[in-house]
Amino acid sequence: MPTDRGLRVGLVGAGFMGRTHSNAYHQVSRFFPQERGADLVAVCSRDGAKAQDFATQWGYGGHETDWRKLVARDDIDLIDIATPNDTHAEIAEAAAKAGKMVACEKPLGRSLAESRRMTVAVERADVANMVWYNYRRVPALALAKQMIDEGRLGRIFHSRFKFLQDWTISADLPQGGAGTWRLDAAVAGSGVTGDLLAHCIDAALWLVGPVAEVSGTTEVFVPERVHALTGKREPITLDDASLFLARFANGSLATFEATRFARGHKALFTLELNGEKGSVAWDLHDLHRLQFFSYDGDGATRGWRSIHVTDGDHPYMKAWWVPGLQIGYEHTFVHQVADFMSGLRTGTKTVPDFADGLAVDAVVDAVLKSARSRSWETVENIEQAARLEGAA
Ligand SMILES: NC(=O)c1ccc[n+]([C@@H]2O[C@H](COP(=O)([O-])OP(=O)(O)OC[C@H]3O[C@@H](n4cnc5c(N)ncnc54)[C@H](O)[C@@H]3O)[C@@H](O)[C@H]2O)c1
Repeated sequence: MPTDRGLRVGLVGAGFMGRTHSNAYHQVSRFFPQERGADLVAVCSRDGAKAQDFATQWGYGGHETDWRKLVARDDIDLIDIATPNDTHAEIAEAAAKAGKMVACEKPLGRSLAESRRMTVAVERADVANMVWYNYRRVPALALAKQMIDEGRLGRIFHSRFKFLQDWTISADLPQGGAGTWRLDAAVAGSGVTGDLLAHCIDAALWLVGPVAEVSGTTEVFVPERVHALTGKREPITLDDASLFLARFANGSLATFEATRFARGHKALFTLELNGEKGSVAWDLHDLHRLQFFSYDGDGATRGWRSIHVTDGDHPYMKAWWVPGLQIGYEHTFVHQVADFMSGLRTGTKTVPDFADGLAVDAVVDAVLKSARSRSWETVENIEQAARLEGAA
């Protein structure tokens, strides 16, 4: 259990997400003093020198090159998985078996089968767990969720979600290896569907509800790339672009689009929801604003308003500066750690857990199936599937 020094963390992975998580562990008790904070025990990366530099820079007590050593230590409470997707299942299952809490980056596994195994492992071991769907912790999106739950949008008819990037357009970009593992199907599982659309799907499940069926299409624009590890040209078997239509269990409809070939866009995550009484829209490039239209009131002055989500009565904002001053991307991870710790303290579910991650991966699986079959596909009932697997 957490000591007075805080939740004892063993981090696996010293890249992009390793940095965002480490920053969050440092900041959490400074801005959320009701939580105990974190004790950064050790970090693991395959390259010893890199692991050591990371430990020094981010204040970890030690470093390792084999994650199994972190899992075996009895002075670590939480194993945090911030490595490429091909490692998630093995580390999560071993950590759960050792009785550790597990935090895992998205997507959970490379396939629905892997994600299901991981979920069964944490549920069977009865350990606290979470998936880093950090965009739920953007104050503007947390406000949108609050407004939907309060009924301000009424019944939601339509929604649309996009995540656009442009970093893989060059055919000279390799696949595989340190910087480009996302293009190697053996490591990543899927392309933009499990990588970018996973964030959109998580937001949709959270804001609108369960997805019943999907109709999708995917495309590979550069069919072969040199593999950074073998030096040979090898086929690209994962999706460069993915589009799908969704029908929710509650009758709502949505469109989804993600690509790494949208020239000019770096991380354009946008969403819009249209309800009977109102609509909301949000854009990651302007993440502290929520656009809101309410049909209430006087027709002459009715219109879209842009809410600057920086006031003390907005989600999370009381913890930060003074009204009017905005926060950014890194704070979403601080909020997720604070919420996870508050869940441990109060015994309530506060963060997306493995079951939520599995629900996202069931939609990803149905989208890819639909792209292959060229027909509508039903999203697997993962609750039932997980139970059956657990009983096996
Ligand atoms: N929540 C988000 O918004 C978000 C954003 C980016 C990435 N991700 C997810 O985070 C994960 C990591 O992505 P990233 O961008 O940080 O990748 P990255 O390539 O920047 O970093 C990966 C790190 O893992 C290390 N590593 C790889 N295999 C390892 C092993 N077997 N043992 C120990 N260390 C190992 C690498 O050396 C590197 O330090 C992925 O699952 C990705 O999908 C999530």
